[in-house]
Amino acid sequence: MIIKIFRMRELILNILQQEKHISGENLGKRLNISRTAVWKHINELRRRGYKIESSPRSGYSFIKNTSLLLPEEISPGLQTSVMGKHIKYYREISSTQDIAARMAHEGAAEGTIVIAETQSKGRGRMGRQWVSPFEGGIYLSLILRPKLLPSQIMQIPLIAGLALARAITHILPLQPAIKWPNDITIGRKKVAGILTEMSSEIDGVNYIILGVGINVNTPATLLAEQTAGIGTSFIGECGKYTSRVRLVQSFLNEFELIYQKYLDSGFGSIRKDWQVYDTTIGARVRVKSGNRNIEGRAIDIDDNGFLLVKTDKGSINRIINGDVFIIDPAGLN
Ligand code: BTN
Repeated sequence: MIIKIFRMRELILNILQQEKHISGENLGKRLNISRTAVWKHINELRRRGYKIESSPRSGYSFIKNTSLLLPEEISPGLQTSVMGKHIKYYREISSTQDIAARMAHEGAAEGTIVIAETQSKGRGRMGRQWVSPFEGGIYLSLILRPKLLPSQIMQIPLIAGLALARAITHILPLQPAIKWPNDITIGRKKVAGILTEMSSEIDGVNYIILGVGINVNTPATLLAEQTAGIGTSFIGECGKYTSRVRLVQSFLNEFELIYQKYLDSGFGSIRKDWQVYDTTIGARVRVKSGNRNIEGRAIDIDDNGFLLVKTDKGSINRIINGDVFIIDPAGLN
């Protein structure tokens, strides 16, 4: 029933977008439904942000697309066979991570996404808050079920970071960078982040919830205020409104390709692609990893995705997870 309603709305939209004007009666005839049913679907489309005008003389006219992240907007632009095939959409939610985890626990398929226009309790890495105003950004959680050992999980956010960086370059005139492990930055300010949560046994992973937060059209002033100057948004950086739908599509398309390559051939096969966007290697950094603070020069990432930091005393530390602060991008001091 839900699929039928969803499909009918899609059909109505297609017709409205093709015809300049069409009466409720003709629309109903073409779809074999009553005028009242047409009217109900039109009202639902309006509620979802589409601008549709009606007049007694010319009938319904399509004026403007919605800017909401509706499944019927996202699906047509996906070239994927798994990622985003099922989309659970919310106008408002506490955190997409929680809903996705519940769905994964109940057996939802790999590639299912949960997406929301706003989150009241959006969370970031290390217990931080993720600022999630209505329609400002993209807040999505993707369910993954890879056959990996728990020790390989930290490679997933790295490949997601690469997918995101590539997606951004397809859509925006901006040059994104990745700060290890997975902060997406523009001019050293953070525009997007990735949070990985999982359910696992000793010998394998049940599921991973890959949370992606992107500051798209959120005013940069709001982000600066709420993130102590660390965060920014695309609109803040290039002054242009960006289609969130296109960015979600581009991310999912890229992610599926990279994820498949990774599953087939391991992290080593995409390490060089990742390094194209990397902003960490070569820099002098301070890394907070658990209760350790390590300072030194980031010299490389290895085939496992671990960051190698050489301290001033010459010892090389392999960092599995942590927060990186870049002290000097050129690594001279
Ligand atoms: C980070 O701290 O860099 C990671 C931020 C991840 C935020 C996203 S928004 C969608 C998903 N739901 C959440 O509550 N968090 C993640």
